[in-house]
Amino acid sequence: MEDVRQSDAPAPTTPAPRRSRSGPVVQPRLVELGEGSRRPLRFSLEGKTAIVTGAGLGIGRSIAWILAEHCAKVMVLDLDGGPAEEAAAGIRASGGAAHAFVCDVTDEAQVRRTFDAIAADHGGIQLLVNNAGVTHVEPWNRRRPKRSTGSIA
Ligand SMILES: NC(=O)c1ccc[n+]([C@@H]2O[C@H](COP(=O)([O-])OP(=O)(O)OC[C@H]3O[C@@H](n4cnc5c(N)ncnc54)[C@H](O)[C@@H]3O)[C@@H](O)[C@H]2O)c1
Repeated sequence: MEDVRQSDAPAPTTPAPRRSRSGPVVQPRLVELGEGSRRPLRFSLEGKTAIVTGAGLGIGRSIAWILAEHCAKVMVLDLDGGPAEEAAAGIRASGGAAHAFVCDVTDEAQVRRTFDAIAADHGGIQLLVNNAGVTHVEPWNRRRPKRSTGSIA
């Protein structure tokens, strides 16, 4: 029996094809997207439209990059149009698909308008990352009923 520890065979440069229980078999491939990042894809989001809220900066921007890296069409939503456009432009410049939208998640009418427009233009929405969080701080015993559906931390 061959001792694999002493094998002179060169390390494989591309991962072997994998099986997937939940969907079509995805051929892992390497992509170049982002500053020098070169990672094997573990799944494909090709054909999926993803919305990430608060994606102009921080965690949301990173999530948007990772979704784009896995071939999703990413909708970068943010309160602030500058960072949103910058994030989307960065993804596009690296070969990904992204569009920027100004959208304040605390404004229900704006959220509805934005989501409806995206769904109409891109044939639906398959993924939502509700990253933008809104913090409201007040004493628990003064919490008004209309806020009682919000998150509690
Ligand atoms: N960074 C942490 O350690 C941490 C820890 C726990 C929870 N969180 C939560 O995760 C989320 C992202 O954190 P982060 O560190 O990336 O924050 P960040 O401040 O770096 O980025 C947040 C982004 O969301 C946008 N944003 C803020 N309010 C918005 C609104 N109403 N509608 C749309 N966009 C809005 C901002 O413009 C900004 O681009 C936040 O909700 C934060 O509270 C962060």
